[in-house]
Amino acid sequence: MILPQLQELKEIEDKARTELAAVSDEEALESWRIAHLGRRSRLNIILRGLASLPIEERRQVGAAANRLRLELEEMLSQRQAQLREATVTAVVERGRLDVTLPGRPLAIGRLHPVTQALRDILAAFVSMGFQVFEGPEVEWDHYNFEAVRIPKDHPARDMWDTLWIDYVRNDEYPMLLRTHTSPMQIRVMEQMQPPVRIVSPGKCYRHEATDPTHEWMHTQVEGLAVDENISMADLKGTLYEFARRLFGRERRVRFRCDYFPFVEPGADMSIDCPLCDGQGCRACGNSGWIEILGAGMVHPEVLANVGYDAERYTGFAFGLGVERVAMLRHGIEDIRLFYANDLRFLEQF
Ligand code: DAH
Repeated sequence: MILPQLQELKEIEDKARTELAAVSDEEALESWRIAHLGRRSRLNIILRGLASLPIEERRQVGAAANRLRLELEEMLSQRQAQLREATVTAVVERGRLDVTLPGRPLAIGRLHPVTQALRDILAAFVSMGFQVFEGPEVEWDHYNFEAVRIPKDHPARDMWDTLWIDYVRNDEYPMLLRTHTSPMQIRVMEQMQPPVRIVSPGKCYRHEATDPTHEWMHTQVEGLAVDENISMADLKGTLYEFARRLFGRERRVRFRCDYFPFVEPGADMSIDCPLCDGQGCRACGNSGWIEILGAGMVHPEVLANVGYDAERYTGFAFGLGVERVAMLRHGIEDIRLFYANDLRFLEQF
């Protein structure tokens, strides 16, 4: 006759197997473990009752019950491993790299419109034999004013509202943020002998109320050519060629007298308005002409200030505003847009 405990063990095994097949996650597996291997499981009750069985039954039932326990434990760990693997596979599946998807576009930066204009201006002069020199934005009063014939109390200082560097303010050697790039004429000539052909780009600062055509910081390019026999004709020819390279071969230029302390004679140059082809529009104030730079023949005293022989050498100089050029090129009507850092504006160039 078959022992009733052995019969029960068989039932326990069948039930455990059937239920395990239905387990689909780790939580259900844990319930299964508690039900079939836990302290209050039927199997455990049988195991705990072994001691009170007669010896022969104890041997038979004990062997079968322990075998079943090991078997269930083995089933449990197998199922656990399967479930873990399924989880990992699912995670990997979800995050799988689809190499056929189009890439995400990278945000590529671009050059600021003033930088673009500046590079084109420099390239035009470099191709005509000029060298590029850069100099300091914090400048001595001496270079910014004195050496270019703007002494203290000279009314021309009113043309450049100056930002002084109070930190080093010293009546003997005052410092400032340069108001123009003309001091570079002096710095260059102190360092080289004629022939000189240079352009010097850089930022300039003025204590200025801002409006659509004025900013407290702007960019200039200074030009200087000094040699024997340089004449006004060289000035005009060079600047005419520059205007055509930058604004188109069809451009016409116009020179008029103007005053700058460091040149004699002084002039300004206009081009016929590239926006309306000289017909007259808002940008050129209906005149058809737009002034783009100041220029002139270097004053003999400026040459003498750096120890050049003003009897032997002559030169021409010019200064132009780079923002002005960029505004003309793109029809921009407010200089303040350049430095407002609004990407909607900057991304258009
Ligand atoms: N430095 C002048 C300014 O800031 C521009 C200028 C005019 C420069 C005439 C020159 C020049 O070299 O010859 O307004």
